Amino acid sequence: MKVRIKKLSYDKEMFPFRDIVSYIFDVPDLENIHLLGYPQSYWIERFEKDVKGNERFYSCYEQFLKIIVQPLFDEKLTVQRFSNFRIQFPGNMSIKFHLDSEYGCDENEMNVWLPLTLASGSNSIYIESEPGKKDYSPQEVNQGEFLIFPGSKLSHGTEINTTSESRLSLDFRVIKESLFIKGELVTMYEGNEISFFKSL
Ligand SMILES: [Fe+2]
Repeated sequence: MKVRIKKLSYDKEMFPFRDIVSYIFDVPDLENIHLLGYPQSYWIERFEKDVKGNERFYSCYEQFLKIIVQPLFDEKLTVQRFSNFRIQFPGNMSIKFHLDSEYGCDENEMNVWLPLTLASGSNSIYIESEPGKKDYSPQEVNQGEFLIFPGSKLSHGTEINTTSESRLSLDFRVIKESLFIKGELVTMYEGNEISFFKSL
């Protein structure tokens, strides 16, 4: 796969990520989750505790990897064991521009970025178009769409969310099995595990 950003569609009925998160959080209107008064950290903890390993969510995640992501590659994948979860309230920044390789990720890893809310303008992820170009633009990603891009080759991050809507998104990394050379199924950064991998 070339060094570029690809936007693809998936069937929301078949992979109802948003509905599952919305149901477990008991928040129908995820765009307005900030109005409930809890800090972002509360929802991150809720995801870790109640969603990540939830049977329905995990099965959706695994099936998505097998049915949607794996066929994009010509070789068997090694994948992140659990999805990451991000939340960006209006007025918040989320994460500075970076390459994932700066955090210990393998340069051959590909990032999947899947928003649970409409991602548009400053409540979306910004990605440069070519390595080193730093021409960051916000990615327009609808529900039922996801991005796949090389996060260790294309710098990415966020700006302050000046919209009135929260952005919730999932992200996870995959890598061709033969390129996964770290020997252990875990990526480390300064002694901290940042992502566990498993064979798909
Ligand atoms: Fe990143």
